[in-house]
Amino acid sequence: MKAIVLSGGKGTRLRPLTYTGAKQLVPIANRPILAYVIDNISKVGIKEVGIIISPETGSEVRETMGDGSKWGLKITYIMQDEPKGLAHAVRTAAPFLGDEPFVMYLGDNLIGCGIEKFVDTFKTSGADAVILLKPVDNPQAFGVAQADSSGRIVCLEEKPKNPKSNLALVGVYIFSPEIHKAIANIKPSARGELEITDAIQDLITRGAPVHSHVLDTWWLDTGKKDDLLAANTIVLDEWFKRDIRGTIENSQVTGRVTVEEGAVVRNSTLRGPIVVGSNAIVEDSFIGPFTSIGSGTKVSKSIVEHCVILSGAELSHVDRLEDSLIGRNAKVRKCHDKHEALRLMIGDDSVVEV
Ligand code: DAU
Repeated sequence: MKAIVLSGGKGTRLRPLTYTGAKQLVPIANRPILAYVIDNISKVGIKEVGIIISPETGSEVRETMGDGSKWGLKITYIMQDEPKGLAHAVRTAAPFLGDEPFVMYLGDNLIGCGIEKFVDTFKTSGADAVILLKPVDNPQAFGVAQADSSGRIVCLEEKPKNPKSNLALVGVYIFSPEIHKAIANIKPSARGELEITDAIQDLITRGAPVHSHVLDTWWLDTGKKDDLLAANTIVLDEWFKRDIRGTIENSQVTGRVTVEEGAVVRNSTLRGPIVVGSNAIVEDSFIGPFTSIGSGTKVSKSIVEHCVILSGAELSHVDRLEDSLIGRNAKVRKCHDKHEALRLMIGDDSVVEV
């Protein structure tokens, strides 16, 4: 069995953070989302992974993820020239996949469990597809499945205006090579994409066995700021332990706090769960729960809680920063002069609440 991870596309929903970067590389607790995806794939023993990349962000994805040796597997990068849909990405990866069954994992999806159970279902049931579902409040934003009273999937629709159920398709799928025939049968949707949802519907229409699992852990589709903060909170809370590798001077450290190599924390209070990235400097500050401080950041004389601060950012004299996402190399500081004025340089599509 092989795997493909979809890391192409445009990533418009996290603007302005993703004007310059791939949304799949946005860090959750200081690790790119893609790293958690590859963790899950490696845990089921898959040794060959194709990552679908786009011309815009492909080199950044390649540099960050490397050749896969960190996970004991081999990563092959597959260029998709345009984001023409998830099924188009599978078609682009067809030479890599050959006639093997495969896991398809969307590179911006995080789930709160491994995928062993789903791979087992695929292997033992002889299904042509295994899909994951999760009840959501806004099914219009997803692929939606309708099941009959025995739980059998009868119909799938992509982002329907009038959803027939609240069961959204989670971005993890397992396919037999039959999916390639189904993809050959479908046409682009109204939004101009070759939808994997339509290809799975084609399997169902032709009577091919399609199994589903309703996910009983959390699932985060990390496309927006609030999702990202929620993902950061959950991952820090559930998966991080106390691990101090950096230097702590004259500071109080409580709870599950990770301080990575080369980081220095001075005259400060850290209250976990939090992570302080490599070579960051935290001075005269309070860092409260559910905060990720990226590598190389500098935080001084500030109070920060429930925030994601990306690498290279600087905060100084910020009395209290909450529920915020600060981009790479951004600077937030309080100036001490007579004018009570705000001085801002803010990128397109930013949101500032003062
Ligand atoms: O997150 C779950 C949802 O993902 C499912 O419920 C939907 O059925 C499915 O179509 C998909 O919807 P999205 O609109 O969220 O897909 P998005 O365009 O965000 O793409 C998902 C990932 O695949 C993302 O990492 C980018 C990548 N991608 C996307 C397209 C369209 C590609 O690599 N190539 C592409 O052509």
